[in-house]
Amino acid sequence: MKVLIIGRGGREHAIAWKIAQSPLKPEIFIAPGNPGMKSITRETGATVNLVATDETDTAGLCCFAKENGVDLTVVGPEAALTNDIATVFAAAGLRIFAPTAAAAMIESSKQFAKDLMLKYNIPTAQYKTFGDYEAAKEYLDGKGAPIVIKYDGLAAGKGVVVAMTLEEADNALREMLLERKFGDGKVVMEEFLEGPEFSLLALVNGSQVVPLAISQDHKRAYDGDKGPNTGGMGAYSPVPVIPHEAVDTALEIIMKPVAEAMIAENRPFCGVLYGGLMLTSEGPKVIEFNARFGDPETEVVLPKLKSDLLQLILDILDNKDVSAEFHEECYLGVVLAAEGYPGSYEKNIPLESVGEVSQQIFYMGVKEDGGRLVSNGGRVLIVVGKGRTIADARSDAYEGVSLIDGPRLFHRKDIGWQAL
Ligand code: AMP
Ligand code: GLY
Repeated sequence: MKVLIIGRGGREHAIAWKIAQSPLKPEIFIAPGNPGMKSITRETGATVNLVATDETDTAGLCCFAKENGVDLTVVGPEAALTNDIATVFAAAGLRIFAPTAAAAMIESSKQFAKDLMLKYNIPTAQYKTFGDYEAAKEYLDGKGAPIVIKYDGLAAGKGVVVAMTLEEADNALREMLLERKFGDGKVVMEEFLEGPEFSLLALVNGSQVVPLAISQDHKRAYDGDKGPNTGGMGAYSPVPVIPHEAVDTALEIIMKPVAEAMIAENRPFCGVLYGGLMLTSEGPKVIEFNARFGDPETEVVLPKLKSDLLQLILDILDNKDVSAEFHEECYLGVVLAAEGYPGSYEKNIPLESVGEVSQQIFYMGVKEDGGRLVSNGGRVLIVVGKGRTIADARSDAYEGVSLIDGPRLFHRKDIGWQAL
């Protein structure tokens, strides 16, 4: 069995690492991957090949899969989804676990997602969409702050402003609608919701929804949830502040109805549906959907998964009834990032001591330089600890972090604080 994984970050490292442990003994290809992922061979014995084709080179990836007899392709990044890699592969007779671009609109267009939730009664914040600054400003003056302003399109996680004051909100509207900071697009203005957030990832095909363990991300750069938004500075799974009943409710009133709604809209969803949810005083509500595995959530959720991920995906694609099993342990991951991230940062930071770390490492942004690993991105790697409780997993992770941490790297020291 040959499996192709598309992407280059910590998420794809975790997907490949988990699939590599399958009793089906797959041979793994990662396009383009990163050289840190070669550790999978050492850890699992699986053959791992890095393929020098970019995530966005859909035609190149399709050629590679055909020529090499790839049996299954799993996609990480949203850029590949919006290029409609799922449709291109399916047309070529290749199996792929990914949504079509039409289905991935649940992530790529906030307005599409919001309209879908309104139409199918899926709980989310009240909202209104604007393309024009003057009209948006008038609505803002009527609603007041706090209010949430979201750019309608892909803005690499940076197109959301939770404005606590009118001034902040107005600045965001000006940036998005007058200065066109992210390009020509609209904004969605949303009611401000309060409560603990959690990520619920599910493997979906049509109406089948197989939930994975819930997790929580840390989006802000610095301790105390301060500083700019990032791709995610750490995560843990499970999330003790969220009761089991709330997760069951979220499945019944959010995840399953959305899968059904996508069928009704002629955009059946196949792949990973990621619910970014908030447990409000009125129950779970949707903050956003993504059409893919989350990063860094995947790096803690897949270690917690006991079932064989490869078999699960194959069975879901075959429309077999399946469910997932999980380890009892808790997992917590701490991201090491280059100083300056998410702004400008240095590359080529040496990562000498990673070899001494016994905890699981997933590489996010690294390259090889004269046979050794150096940083090549803002988020460099994630150290994942495990333990009986989140507190134990956290001590374990930080023990690993302390061995690697160097002068030009930084990390948050409070990952998991909401669980302690
Ligand atoms: P998003 O990109 O939509 O996930 O938004 C990024 C972050 O902004 C979320 O993780 C929340 O912390 C916050 N956020 C988004 N929408 C709302 C909302 N309606 N109320 C409160 N906070 C929100
Ligand atoms: N961790 C948030 C995301 O993957 O979008």
